[in-house]
Amino acid sequence: MPLIKEQLALFQSDQFLDTESKHDWIFRDSKTDICIKQDDCISFLESLPVNSVDIIVTDPAYSGMNRKLKLGHGRIVGNYSNKGSDNGRWFKEFEDNEKNYHEFLTQCQRVLRKETGHIYIMFDSFSLLTLGPIVRQHFDVKNLITWDKVNFGMGHYYRRRHEYIIFATNGNNRKIRNRSFPDVWRFKRIYRAKYATQKPTELFQTMIYASAEEGFTVCDPFVGSGSSAIAAIKNGCNFLGCDVSAEAIDISANRVKHFIATRTDCLQKKPASVAGEKVFWE
Ligand SMILES: C[S@@+](CC[C@H](N)C(=O)[O-])C[C@H]1O[C@@H](n2cnc3c(N)ncnc32)[C@H](O)[C@@H]1O
Repeated sequence: MPLIKEQLALFQSDQFLDTESKHDWIFRDSKTDICIKQDDCISFLESLPVNSVDIIVTDPAYSGMNRKLKLGHGRIVGNYSNKGSDNGRWFKEFEDNEKNYHEFLTQCQRVLRKETGHIYIMFDSFSLLTLGPIVRQHFDVKNLITWDKVNFGMGHYYRRRHEYIIFATNGNNRKIRNRSFPDVWRFKRIYRAKYATQKPTELFQTMIYASAEEGFTVCDPFVGSGSSAIAAIKNGCNFLGCDVSAEAIDISANRVKHFIATRTDCLQKKPASVAGEKVFWE
């Protein structure tokens, strides 16, 4: 089922509208709608009707790790050689203090359907320890999933090879598709991604495949390069997403447009899966 009128009305109703100040996009792919808007996560969620989303899958840009760990030159996220205007950061980060996070989760809880809503939130190890426990105050945490990136990243105290995903429900006991799915997911990180921190689509495909039925509405308030939008389309779901960055909206909108026209992903040409491993995400 396509998105309802109230949801579509939040976006500019003309298809492919794009002006200098606004970046709002609506695409239709056979039976589903994909909407992407430039906005702050909280004001975006506030604008959505109550109980209007079936699944939230999201990968926020937390500021904690960068600010507080003070590794190396005090930054572990960003382009070290080119500090740029904002201390070399790749993009604006979500201010991950408790108050802000409560506000964010309150809005997630409000828009997520009570009877069926599932939520997946990604965390680095630093933010998991500070913000992870707050998720429990809003949702029924069912599991902590580990994403094994297969290849090593950077690290000052042990090289980083994994991130976490909290899986929770909005107070319901709706099951996932198959109870034999594992809670360690092995997908190779995207090497030399066009958008910094672009995640493998397989990560979001797994979340959506496990938790969605065709026609469900998936929401990602930190859409970045649009990996979650591609995963939603592959699963026959509607998609509502936002990002504070105009660049992210341009990149993700072009990626979605290209995918709808060609059925190929212009930002992830190769699968991130590990050869020989059992496919459980599609
Ligand atoms: C880790 S990236 C998401 C990457 C994405 N999962 C992908 O695969 O491309 C986080 C995104 O959050 C965006 N962001 C930061 N602060 C935000 C805010 N307050 N509201 C919405 N988006 C925000 C950043 O611009 C960035 O694109």
